[in-house]
Amino acid sequence: MNNSDLAIIVLAAGKGTRMKSSLHKVLHPIAGRPMLHHLLDRVAPLKPSRNIIIAGAGIEQVERSVGALAEIVVQEPQLGTGHAVQMARAKLEGFKGTVLVLYGDVPLISQATMENMIKHKDAAVVVLGFRPADPFRYGRLKLNRAGRLQAIVEYKDANEEERKIDLCNSGIMAIDGNHLFDLLDLLDNKNAANEYYLTDLVGIANSQGHKCVVVEAPEREVMGINSRSELAQAEKIFQDQARQYFMDEGVSLLDPSSVYFSYDTKIGKDVSIGPNVFFGPETTIDDDVTINAFCHIEGATVGAGSIVGPFARLRPAAKLGKNVKVGNFVEVKKADIEDGAKVNHLSYIGDARVGKNANIGAGTITCNYDGYFKYHTDIGEGAFIGSNTAIVAPVKVGDGAIVGAGSIVTKDTEGDALIISRSKQREIGGWAKTFRTTQQEKKDNK
Ligand code: UD1
Ligand code: MG
Repeated sequence: MNNSDLAIIVLAAGKGTRMKSSLHKVLHPIAGRPMLHHLLDRVAPLKPSRNIIIAGAGIEQVERSVGALAEIVVQEPQLGTGHAVQMARAKLEGFKGTVLVLYGDVPLISQATMENMIKHKDAAVVVLGFRPADPFRYGRLKLNRAGRLQAIVEYKDANEEERKIDLCNSGIMAIDGNHLFDLLDLLDNKNAANEYYLTDLVGIANSQGHKCVVVEAPEREVMGINSRSELAQAEKIFQDQARQYFMDEGVSLLDPSSVYFSYDTKIGKDVSIGPNVFFGPETTIDDDVTINAFCHIEGATVGAGSIVGPFARLRPAAKLGKNVKVGNFVEVKKADIEDGAKVNHLSYIGDARVGKNANIGAGTITCNYDGYFKYHTDIGEGAFIGSNTAIVAPVKVGDGAIVGAGSIVTKDTEGDALIISRSKQREIGGWAKTFRTTQQEKKDNK
């Protein structure tokens, strides 16, 4: 059931010029997911009855990305954060609950912080404050002696005394829907930026006898992302949290700072992960798995007890059963490697099934592509593929078959057969010695 007392508005109409990107700022990814979706994911458990996004340039990109997750309203031109919230008026006609105003470029806010804000039912305005290491150009929060919020002063408009205040405005606010639009009607743009500041709502609400309060959050939750370097900082915050989370859940990381997770990585217990491992989206690792150093894993499922790497690449739809071994310089794509099978060295396995307990020798390649189409390789249970074998799909190797090293398999084979397709070995006695002697003489006589 939706919470009919809560609506959210996400401000995302800023131009984002400092990203220097043709991609909308709020669609830049953190851990493989657009920052806007991180924010919507965090909001979702609060079950707001309305999700409204205010967008300007690049609105089509935002629409395509969020689909039915939110309603999108255009703000054109952009006359400030107060003006941006006014754009939601028609959508929120008659809404009496709490309106939580979030920023699309402040995606790492926690659910707990949002809950802390919206539980203040007696305040007209709840502002999310923080004490940054460097207060710099943030708006400053002015409290009275009782700790109530009196006003927000923008840095540009602040005097020297006000600039000394270390409690800053994150920009995020929860506002009582009964008063929101009446208060917004009273905003003007007589300030240093000639903008309609949402922050002025606090002074106005106080002058009307309403209560305004501050809730504080740690800086890492409210950092704004305006540039690639701030994006990298947000990525680091996310990764550090993910590393800590997995270690708390029973995953050993040999060198936590060198392991990268995706927003949706799932890992079981007693998993050990070596240094320099990267997880892309849609990966699930079961219990008791070892991932050795330097693996790149994306869209893969790894069954319990398996050992992967070092230097392995698991690509989308790689599905490893239980107790599978995928060793160094092996690439697996869209392939089921069934329980107990081994692909230990230097192989490409793509569009394939490798049956239970099969052993794939070093340098085996499934030749899955003819330049136009992809074809499937099926390797039966317990099959043994000799080293340096090319298996040209579509083709089946029967259960328990043995393929001699260096073969090229192009036809389906029966189970338990020996398959060798290579030229017979010849031996010419003494040939090498004679060759060396004649060549050396030629060279000496030159
Ligand atoms: C704002 C706050 C400031 C706070 C700071 C925190 C105001 C007046 N000031 O300042 O107190 O310390 O955030 O980062 O609110 N946006 C729109 N439409 C607009 C203008 C902005 O959607 O017309 C969006 C932007 O995309 C952005 C957010 O609102 O996500 C904040 O806008 P920005 O211009 O960065 O505000 P600041 O000047 O940083
Ligand atoms: Mg800003």
